[in-house]
Amino acid sequence: MAPNVKSAKKVFVFLGKSVFSLLETMIFTLIPKPRKNVAGEIVLITGAGSGLGRLLALKFARLGAVLVLWDINKEGNEETCNMARDAGATRAYAYTCDCGRKEEVYRVADQVKKEVGDISILINNAGIVTGKRFLDCPDELIEKAFDVNFKAHLWNTSSPKAHCSFLYLLSPNPISKVKVLCGPQTQYPSPRSNRYSLL
Ligand SMILES: NC(=O)c1ccc[n+]([C@@H]2O[C@H](COP(=O)([O-])OP(=O)(O)OC[C@H]3O[C@@H](n4cnc5c(N)ncnc54)[C@H](O)[C@@H]3O)[C@@H](O)[C@H]2O)c1
Repeated sequence: MAPNVKSAKKVFVFLGKSVFSLLETMIFTLIPKPRKNVAGEIVLITGAGSGLGRLLALKFARLGAVLVLWDINKEGNEETCNMARDAGATRAYAYTCDCGRKEEVYRVADQVKKEVGDISILINNAGIVTGKRFLDCPDELIEKAFDVNFKAHLWNTSSPKAHCSFLYLLSPNPISKVKVLCGPQTQYPSPRSNRYSLL
């Protein structure tokens, strides 16, 4: 296919998807979907020490969920935990965990299982962006991005290490939702996010 036709096709697909999303949003604004009651659900949010993870923690706190907060940044995570308690969470627990390290994920997962219980909603939010140009990105950063933005989701959800992985830990309570926040730029990459977009 000629490059011009290819580009035109991409633009049409993009516009089509945008119009569809807009219509979908308008319809669901007029006729809202019934919302799931998350009061009492045990929600694990990774990367809860700042940004979207923190905002999600506060939202779930207001909805009465039990919060399990993971972050590599102990201080930020504990701050989120305190904010969640102020926002109404009766049970909120902060754990320091490097989600890019498999053994650490397994260890903290076991600890959570013993101290809090089975997770019913998992939000894989922890992520890093290298913020560098494609050719300036050092190998260590690329590896780190794969560890945190991609592999961590596997350790958190579907590792064959049955005694640690949440999908196995959950029995007899099947997991209700797994959300992954990094990655939407795969289709629409932006400058300095190219390595991130490869994921
Ligand atoms: N903000 C945006 O516009 C946007 C857009 C698309 C996707 N995202 C994705 O959403 C997620 C959150 O974005 P944000 O803007 O809130 O980022 P952020 O940098 O503010 O927060 C990320 C959190 O993850 C933690 N973290 C980093 N590495 C970790 C690790 N190895 N183990 C545990 N925790 C770790 C950080 O300490 C930080 O608290 C990321 O995955 C990001 O890639 C964000």
